[in-house]
Amino acid sequence: MISFSLNGKTVTTDVPSETPLLWVVRDVFQLKGSKFGCGVGLCGACTMHVEGEAVRTCILAIEDVADKNVTTIEGLGTREDPHPLQESWVAQSVPQCGYCQSGQIMSAAALLSQNPKPTDTDIDAAMKGNICRCGTYGRIRQAIHATANAGEKS
Ligand code: FES
Ligand code: FES
Repeated sequence: MISFSLNGKTVTTDVPSETPLLWVVRDVFQLKGSKFGCGVGLCGACTMHVEGEAVRTCILAIEDVADKNVTTIEGLGTREDPHPLQESWVAQSVPQCGYCQSGQIMSAAALLSQNPKPTDTDIDAAMKGNICRCGTYGRIRQAIHATANAGEKS
């Protein structure tokens, strides 16, 4: 049995210890916001936070998050109480098909928590592992800057 914190709540699972975290979150705990894209750590669709760091959960064994804090897009914000990035994402009309976007937002949230006022270069470096087949990179940048600027004013 492996226990960990999922969006602030302690959960336990008896899946094999090598099962990837993404599988556990989607199939066992039925949180479907994190997506399966490449399955080999190259596209970023599966990005969650583990202890506040953006990680690729398709290649992270569940045993490696035992007793750690995992946050998914569902834990970042809700429709009723969205994260500032999610508000900016809507305001900037970032999502196209939407498939990559929860991973994009999780990477952006980890960036802003470490660097509240990133430059374009900082954003490109932090986001380079998140692939978008719809090509929303320009709007993602705008939304991250808008969130950073709003945070600066408040
Ligand atoms: S599905 Fe995990 S990086 Fe692509
Ligand atoms: S919005 Fe379609 S893959 Fe990014």
